Amino acid sequence: MKNFKIAVIPGDGVGQEVIPQAKRVLEKVAGQHAIGFTFQDFDWGADYYFRHGRMMPADALDRLRPCDAILLGAVGHPQIPDHITLNGLLLPIRRAFDQYANVRPAILYSGVESPLALRKGEQIDLVVVRENTEGEYAQVGGFVYHEQPEEVAIQTAVFTRRGIERIIRFAFELAVRRNKKKRVTSITKSNAQGFGMVLWDRTFQAVASEFPDIRTESLLVDAAAMNFIRRPESFDVVVGSNLFGDILSDISAIIIGSMGLAPSANLDPLRRYPSMFEPVHGSAPDIAGKGIVNPLATIFSAAQMLDHLQCEPAARKIETAVAEVLAGRKIRTPDLRGKSSTAEVTDAVLAQLG
Ligand code: NAD
Ligand code: IPM
Ligand code: MN
Repeated sequence: MKNFKIAVIPGDGVGQEVIPQAKRVLEKVAGQHAIGFTFQDFDWGADYYFRHGRMMPADALDRLRPCDAILLGAVGHPQIPDHITLNGLLLPIRRAFDQYANVRPAILYSGVESPLALRKGEQIDLVVVRENTEGEYAQVGGFVYHEQPEEVAIQTAVFTRRGIERIIRFAFELAVRRNKKKRVTSITKSNAQGFGMVLWDRTFQAVASEFPDIRTESLLVDAAAMNFIRRPESFDVVVGSNLFGDILSDISAIIIGSMGLAPSANLDPLRRYPSMFEPVHGSAPDIAGKGIVNPLATIFSAAQMLDHLQCEPAARKIETAVAEVLAGRKIRTPDLRGKSSTAEVTDAVLAQLG
């Protein structure tokens, strides 16, 4: 029996609705695969902020550190500025636990319609590997003449050779492990940003030379955005900076049918700290509280968590069950043009799990 302590942070909006569904699925496969989960629930987020004036307690990171993994719903509330909520909860966890590899797979499942008119037989099966600790998200900068008419804001991107090299190496190793198209595409904007992005391009060339069996491609981010639409089937592993990975992973989510199908793993590949698993989407205030949010992105994220915990058969079982439900075309939430509720979709997954 493998036992795991999982920190659970449902967070805000639809996070409160999708996390209980992912737990139902985890409980079910745990019973089938001799896995024991101890869930530790944390009520951090916007409601906590309204009560305590902060998104999580001062010792939050110390409380998360002993856990084997973190399962997170979403963060963000219409009544609190996003830079406060996100810099108060989600982003500090990614940074403090050095979760430098953000892995965002995008697979077009059978039975799901892409908004793109793909040619017959064309598949989308790519993964965006996003640098998750530095770059444009380093939060280096400040205000001068704060809130005066002549106000100045400086926001500096930080690119380190170590940070770039480790994420690019992770991407190549992933392309080897996937053993699919054996291709890594690197994304920059080095035609305009002549320092950090140039260091990235040079580092990509250097790391690529260690992987002669993997084909490479370098794209500028604007062309990459276009090519995600024009030739999504050509991509395998796509590696980019924090901001570019963020943007491209919303595109990769929608071309596989919905934000509600896109999972994400925030990994510390060195396993010094807990890794965190969450859907790519946010708190979706426009649909929160209606019972119609698609739980599958979070359920797929739970499968990614099982992979990280080296429970691969249980992870594959979840993915297969979800794929069956999608292939059935019947039980689906409104984002996939269905009429089912969040709970009904999970019920169908549980039924598939047997
Ligand atoms: P969003 O991802 O929350 O929603 C974008 C659109 O996609 C909305 O129309 C929403 O209804 C739809 N959608 C998203 N997930 C869905 C699901 N599972 N099922 C069905 N439809 C779904 O992005 P947003 O509206 O830009 O952001 C809302 C809030 O969430 C903001 O406060 C933002 O900062 C925050 N946010 C948080 C995270 C996170 O916690 N990781 C990620 C993105 C945005
Ligand atoms: C994501 C989100 C976050 C990010 C925001 C909410 C800070 O968009 O996880 O994709 O940009 O990393
Ligand atoms: Mn995003």
